[in-house]
Amino acid sequence: MGLAPLWRLREGGSVEAELAPAPAPAPAPVLPPLVPVSPSLAPRLPVLGDQRNDILPARGVVTSATRSDGDDAVAGLDWEALEARIRGCEACGLCKRRKQAVPGVGDQQADWLFVGEGPGAEEDERGEPFVGQAGRLLDAMLASIDLKRGEDVYIANAVKCRPPNNRTPEATELAACFPYLERQIALIQPRLIIALGRPAAQALLNEEVRIATARGRLYTHGGIPVVVTYHPAYLLRNLQDKSKAWEDLCFARRTMKSLKPA
Ligand code: URA
Repeated sequence: MGLAPLWRLREGGSVEAELAPAPAPAPAPVLPPLVPVSPSLAPRLPVLGDQRNDILPARGVVTSATRSDGDDAVAGLDWEALEARIRGCEACGLCKRRKQAVPGVGDQQADWLFVGEGPGAEEDERGEPFVGQAGRLLDAMLASIDLKRGEDVYIANAVKCRPPNNRTPEATELAACFPYLERQIALIQPRLIIALGRPAAQALLNEEVRIATARGRLYTHGGIPVVVTYHPAYLLRNLQDKSKAWEDLCFARRTMKSLKPA
């Protein structure tokens, strides 16, 4: 194809996608069979550059020991009851300083599920995920692979309430919120999940993750393929990694194509 999106920050803070000559395309990965695979066995695309660009500190892993057993109460909820439960949730300390919880947005039968970290200030204000600057970049990333918010796409976060000062969610907070994400996944039944950044990846994969090493691999969560890439907010600060995110999106698109019936 030879073209890749360049996500450019415009004056006034909005982000636009435009096409620009791409670096040499990464070789197409050989996709594994669609069964749960050990990450260490999954095929891997070449990782370009070094691994110093993971800026999110490790905060521990959401282990089965830390996952809440209140999960059962959430497991049978329909969308309306689930969103009401999330909005009234007091399962962790994040509820104390939120303006509102942010359940998620989009097509409830989407093939694509994008999972971010947690609401920021604008999301806390408006009750919708990814509506700030990082959200504008996410929209451009979606557009680069012919996707659009709300059209066969659902967007959720690993934690539904804003962490104070936009800090990284703690493992206990990720664990407390995980049943909600799990229920969203069960209701949506996406074909593919994209984990945006380290907390989302760790919550979904239930193991310590470094984006630089996890990207390019195909993981699974509950039998659903999971692709890991950089968080848009990270990309706004680390423009040099946009080409890697583009590779990851292409990998995701190829993976999705391999899943769809011909
Ligand atoms: N960052 C996230 O991870 N999620 C949002 O909803 C907004 C910013």
